[in-house]
Amino acid sequence: MNVLRFSDLVQQGAVRGRRVFIRADLNVPQDDAGHITEDTRVRASVPAIRMALDAGAAVMVTSHLGRPTEGAFQPADSLAPVARRLGELLGREVPLVRDWTDGVDVAPGDVVLLENCRVNQGEKKNDPALARKMAALCDIFVNDAFGTAHRAEGTTYGIAEYAKVACAGPLLAAEIDAIGKALANPKRPLAAIVAGSKVSTKLTILRALSEKVDQLIVGGGIANTFLLAAGLPIGKSLAEPDLVDQAKAVIDAMAARGAAVPIPTDVVVAKTFGADAPATVKPVADVAADDLILDIGPETAARLAEQLKSAGTIVWNGPVGVFEFDAFSHGTETIARAIAASEAFSIAGGGDTLAAIAKYGIEREVSYISTGGGAFLEVLEGKTLPALEILEKRAAG
Ligand code: 3PG
Repeated sequence: MNVLRFSDLVQQGAVRGRRVFIRADLNVPQDDAGHITEDTRVRASVPAIRMALDAGAAVMVTSHLGRPTEGAFQPADSLAPVARRLGELLGREVPLVRDWTDGVDVAPGDVVLLENCRVNQGEKKNDPALARKMAALCDIFVNDAFGTAHRAEGTTYGIAEYAKVACAGPLLAAEIDAIGKALANPKRPLAAIVAGSKVSTKLTILRALSEKVDQLIVGGGIANTFLLAAGLPIGKSLAEPDLVDQAKAVIDAMAARGAAVPIPTDVVVAKTFGADAPATVKPVADVAADDLILDIGPETAARLAEQLKSAGTIVWNGPVGVFEFDAFSHGTETIARAIAASEAFSIAGGGDTLAAIAKYGIEREVSYISTGGGAFLEVLEGKTLPALEILEKRAAG
């Protein structure tokens, strides 16, 4: 990745006394009382902030939270809970600043959090006037928001165009390095697990990966459409029959390269969708007209786990069954544990995948867990992320 890195600027001593503006992704889920329910992104944003503070910078941090209406700040849009959590993690108070685009008062060695940047008029559409104003607030712009790198907004793109210096923060750099290691120059065999409810939402990913990977393991509703493509019965399972041809095209593209889409040989079915629906394991050929496929079967899971053992690289996006219900969680658990036990370089991303990783407690065994949701998916699609594109442009001069 040809971008300027903040860590290099720090090493060169170019940060002391400078005004540093960090765009982080602090978009975290909260409960109705406004308590953060999952703080991974806040924790992941701390190293860049610490790096800037330790280097003696005057530090401004901002992020979006949700999708608020521009120019109409509501209390629910506030980063106040994030400021508190950040304060705990940094061991110092983090003042929260409202209406900050015209000027920010912050001294070297101090940090402030700038209120939800998506409330500013022009942020979403990347209005150049707003971008120029924000760029004027700082000497160095640091983009550390991988989770928002697929958006070309004021704080992810425009400010990087106009800031005196624009660089990648340590989280953004680590994400890009890990994804590059997995996809650009992977140790083979390269296995990808792509699961989820619909082929349609992940078709471009499946197509892009079918040109790269040695094994493309599909799961969830996506697998059902592939079962249909293989001429197998799926009962009343969720599937997209109109995309069977596309699934066949993916299978053919893989086969032409000597690669494979392993089709399940057994499945776990139920007559209804629910946590207490009785689960039955059966060969896939025996799926009845009133069956719902809710997980891969044990034979399939064991076979896939065996294949993952010998992988050099594993990319994981999506649980292979309804893992939230215990009776239909074994496939996902087997895959998760196989990834954890594998020597392969493994990278995982996406909300459901992270929930599965947390459920099975394998965070430490996955080589890299991405903080990106949509951004991670767009990278898998082979797209260039706008936030990186502009940093590359700036690095090229
Ligand atoms: C995310 O949660 O995936 C990122 O923070 C991006 O949020 P957005 O989809 O609202 O741009």
